[in-house]
Amino acid sequence: MTTANPTTTPTLTTNATDHSARLDERYGYQVFSIGSYTFQRDEYFVRVSYPRGTYVADVGAFLRAMMRDVAWGFFYGWVNFDDVFGTVNHYGSVDVFVGAYNAGYKAAGTDFTERFDANKLLACFRALLSDWTNAGYDPFAAPLETGSPYGSKNGNNDEAVNFQRELAERFVGLPGDSELRTDARGFPVNRQFADVEQDEPEVHCEPGFEGELAAFSLFAYLSRSPVTWNPSIVSVVGESAYCPTSEEHILPILHGNDRVEWFLQLTDEITWQIADKNTAAPRAIVTMKAGDVCAMPADISHRGYSPKRSMLLVWENMTPGLEQRYASGELAPTAAEF
Ligand code: PHB
Ligand code: FE
Repeated sequence: MTTANPTTTPTLTTNATDHSARLDERYGYQVFSIGSYTFQRDEYFVRVSYPRGTYVADVGAFLRAMMRDVAWGFFYGWVNFDDVFGTVNHYGSVDVFVGAYNAGYKAAGTDFTERFDANKLLACFRALLSDWTNAGYDPFAAPLETGSPYGSKNGNNDEAVNFQRELAERFVGLPGDSELRTDARGFPVNRQFADVEQDEPEVHCEPGFEGELAAFSLFAYLSRSPVTWNPSIVSVVGESAYCPTSEEHILPILHGNDRVEWFLQLTDEITWQIADKNTAAPRAIVTMKAGDVCAMPADISHRGYSPKRSMLLVWENMTPGLEQRYASGELAPTAAEF
């Protein structure tokens, strides 16, 4: 195994300065700077300059990843945009890294990490996402259901980039909580779920329990999800959250979890690419078919490939401080030892 170059280990203090932006006349997009990073895009690519080099990536893939990072408030643990660039959530502060979890970059000494105040970084990423997303392109949509991310600046699509996922506080359908998805609320059945039955269960509760009992068809609910790879929350019991989602094409991030996370494949299939969280070395390819359940370990990154729109239940343990218990080794990275 390659060992890290000790001179590349950063001493991290939190940078809480605002970002700045200036116009790039060539393409009409803003160039964003925060700390020692500068982000600029052209018709096809993003370039991120950092003190030890330049990272370049397809701008469509970058915007799809950025959309999730922003909408999920930096999510749990690592949001890798690819094997090189990404963020690590420290819940209040966030690291932006290039190559810091890639054995090749570490060996070459071209890795870099800078820590930011979470709100300052979020403001920068939000502004970038809004400016770089053109009219007709929705970074949350499946590629077959949206326009192109490419070309020079052409309007914007703030309605899409401000899409709010539905986060039930207790359970979908309880009074005051997330509502069922219906045509009237602007959630038509997706083209690939036209065969999903739409009946809802009848709820008859004992007197005295009115308003405390709810039931709904999760399949009907998910058949009406307008976006992909964007878990909503449908139930919360203690620190346990059911986060189902509809998936099509590629999960735009490689999620490096800071805890064990359960997947239940509800329909169709997803192939998962699993890699070592620290080096990006490939570890496994797992295909989950309808009915399969798995517990993703806490020491890997995972990226899903869904050839057809599918339904996935992601089950998250939101117990505060869990990330430290895994990081310190108190908890084993896998849910079971074989
Ligand atoms: C995950 O990283 O576990 C994840 C994220 C979004 C999804 C599914 C899974 O839609
Ligand atoms: Fe995950």
